[in-house]
Amino acid sequence: MARAKSIYVCTECGGSSPKWQGQCPHCQRWNTLVESVAESSPARYQALAKSAPVQPLAAVQALEVPRFGSGLDEFDRVLGGGLVPGAVVLLGGDPGIGKSTLLLQVMAALAQQRTVLYVSGEESAGQIALRAQRLGLSAATLQALHLQAEIQLERVLETLEQQRPSVVVIDSIQTLYAEILNSAPGSVAQVRECAARLTRYAKESGCALILIGHVTKEGTLAGPRVLEHIVDTVLYFEGDTHSSFRLIRANKNRFGAVNELGVFAMTERGLRGVSNPSALFLSQHGTAGQGKPVSGACVMVTQEGSRPLLVEVQALVDTAHVPNPRRLSVGLEHNRLAMLLAVLHRHAGIACYDQDVFVNAVGGVRISEPAADLAVLLAIVSSLRNQPLPRGLVAFGEVGLAGEIRPAPRGQERLKEAAKLGFSVALIPSANRPKQAIEGLEIWAVDRLEQALDHLRG
Ligand code: TYD
Ligand code: MG
Repeated sequence: MARAKSIYVCTECGGSSPKWQGQCPHCQRWNTLVESVAESSPARYQALAKSAPVQPLAAVQALEVPRFGSGLDEFDRVLGGGLVPGAVVLLGGDPGIGKSTLLLQVMAALAQQRTVLYVSGEESAGQIALRAQRLGLSAATLQALHLQAEIQLERVLETLEQQRPSVVVIDSIQTLYAEILNSAPGSVAQVRECAARLTRYAKESGCALILIGHVTKEGTLAGPRVLEHIVDTVLYFEGDTHSSFRLIRANKNRFGAVNELGVFAMTERGLRGVSNPSALFLSQHGTAGQGKPVSGACVMVTQEGSRPLLVEVQALVDTAHVPNPRRLSVGLEHNRLAMLLAVLHRHAGIACYDQDVFVNAVGGVRISEPAADLAVLLAIVSSLRNQPLPRGLVAFGEVGLAGEIRPAPRGQERLKEAAKLGFSVALIPSANRPKQAIEGLEIWAVDRLEQALDHLRG
């Protein structure tokens, strides 16, 4: 048999090239082309919607999307209030983080009112039954929850046509394969094809579709980026597998706000929603007033979606024994660390060029907002001087390149949450100074980094 013809497909944009190149000729990214089998492209690109006449926007009636709750409040929160019929949700996360567990729980909760189907290509029906047992699902739920262990797309679609479920889970999109393509399951072409055909089905039938996706070593969803474009909502399941807490974050959401956070705890009997997570990411000595203060730790208030969270930022500054000192950050933006160190040197005269600097957000949480800047710098200075920060201190604020401290959005809510948890001093940008005093909270409002550091000496 003649050898199948190879083409090279970009894992980012899905573009193809007849020969390998270091740079994708379509999206200009480097090292993204992977070998794949050339497919004769089937005619499958019909429009999703019927062709419609041109009309002014004013003539179009705005329809409120109907939603239904998934049964898990924290999951609904990230979805923007619940599932939308015909919506396609992609849930990504590291292996073993709890994706299958979460969706089995969601399906079990939904099975009481709706027809649901769980398609698994990863585990056998027996393994899923075992998990259901572990979750303690009732006999009635088990009866209503339909399961199919299948990896062939055509057969899945056939089942969907017959059963017409109102919610379907595909665990996972990387295990499915379409017969019309020769390449292996998980390849760019297969993932794209399977996702596109399932999405088409969801849009036509009004069935809500939840796809589980694997993530690569770099932490992005495996398969082409186009997958993220096809779906309506992209959720990431994150957290430290060593701790029991799990976070779900919306990365893209056509039906709600992004950056809303769902918090769960993994227990013996599945995932349990944590409705009041604000103190979850504090270490023992991070909580206000308790424990012995240690140097290099600063508590900040971050605002994730609609809820403020208190997170401890830790820093370790140690003499470097190599010409290029190390800069490492876990849970915080790496590039920002280098920038903050430069600001610290230039505007506060504190140099770290001969020091290794490590920073970490406690509890496996990831903070992307710049309001973490001030806490990061305070933790660094505290570690460098080996001097604990004042007891009961919280801080937040963005640090600009000119050394100015910029306000963070929704400062009031952050301060109130800190006061509620017993923090007594807040080092914050002047613009965030509350109009009315908050009981039990002393405010140190600052405009510049130097002023913030002066407060520590006093
Ligand atoms: P799983 O849902 O299989 O993860 P994923 O589908 O993301 O790969 O499961 C996760 C882990 O959770 C597994 O290591 C066992 C643990 N677990 C519990 O701690 N409690 C439970 O009730 C269940 C069902 C799983
Ligand atoms: Mg799984």
